[in-house]
Amino acid sequence: MANVSGGDPMVDERVNRPTVEELIIKAESMKLDKDGVRAAFEHSSAPKFVAQTSSWLPDSEAVHNLMLDAVEPYLTNGGRVLDLGSGTGRLTRLVLDRFPECSVVAADYSETMRAVAAKELSEYGERLSMVDLDMFDAPWHSADLEFSDFDAVVSGFAIHHGRSFDEDKSLYQRICESLRPNGLFINLDHVAGESRRQTISNAANWRDFLDQAGNIESDRFIVGSYAEDTPISIPEHTKALNESGFERVEVPWQQMFFALYQAVKAS
Ligand SMILES: C[S@@+](CC[C@H](N)C(=O)[O-])C[C@H]1O[C@@H](n2cnc3c(N)ncnc32)[C@H](O)[C@@H]1O
Repeated sequence: MANVSGGDPMVDERVNRPTVEELIIKAESMKLDKDGVRAAFEHSSAPKFVAQTSSWLPDSEAVHNLMLDAVEPYLTNGGRVLDLGSGTGRLTRLVLDRFPECSVVAADYSETMRAVAAKELSEYGERLSMVDLDMFDAPWHSADLEFSDFDAVVSGFAIHHGRSFDEDKSLYQRICESLRPNGLFINLDHVAGESRRQTISNAANWRDFLDQAGNIESDRFIVGSYAEDTPISIPEHTKALNESGFERVEVPWQQMFFALYQAVKAS
């Protein structure tokens, strides 16, 4: 392509910039398998991306408040919460702070992430239990606790690592079994569009958001997300939840390729 910028490297970058569709195709050619995703979360750099959540998630504070507001009615008499894919404990901390009488089981398969969480959350003492768990492996097992009778199961940016509709549906069955009747499941996550075109348009909106926020790594974020994540769409999540013992599926918030969705265990 001719150099139309007169040699300004900043302009060159814009002119030659790949389209979002090209970035997604590149990501798909670099798709990580299950072991690759796990290895990525064991890497020492993994906690950094999570620590920056408020810089890459639109309306981060507001959507987390919506999530906590949704959980509140389900935590009577203290309450037990399971945080799936708890990472460095970012969401776990929000729950423990907002509901001082509750206890949380923080479950993650990455030793690197659990080590950071254990250090960051040490002040919560017995209100917090940390568990080594691959949520997509059945059955859930821990020597120290029962995965049953939780009042709420929460999750953030982890369930998109399910490899297919069927894997997500099996996970939802396990989540349902771990909840008390009428317990809440709520997830804030990367979701797919309802069509390829919608997926590309949602990712393009996210790139614009990252650019406007001055995030120079926007293209790398898009490639990284699609190489690591295997999201399904909201209608597919709804179907999987309805077929797994849940009812009242709702989507209180959705922007770009992110959504907050929730469901209640049928009584
Ligand atoms: C992007 S981080 C999000 C962490 C945290 N939920 C948050 O919102 O800040 C995703 C986390 O999910 C965990 N994870 C991914 N797949 C998992 C699996 N199959 N079982 C358990 N944890 C998993 C990763 O180890 C990582 O800590």
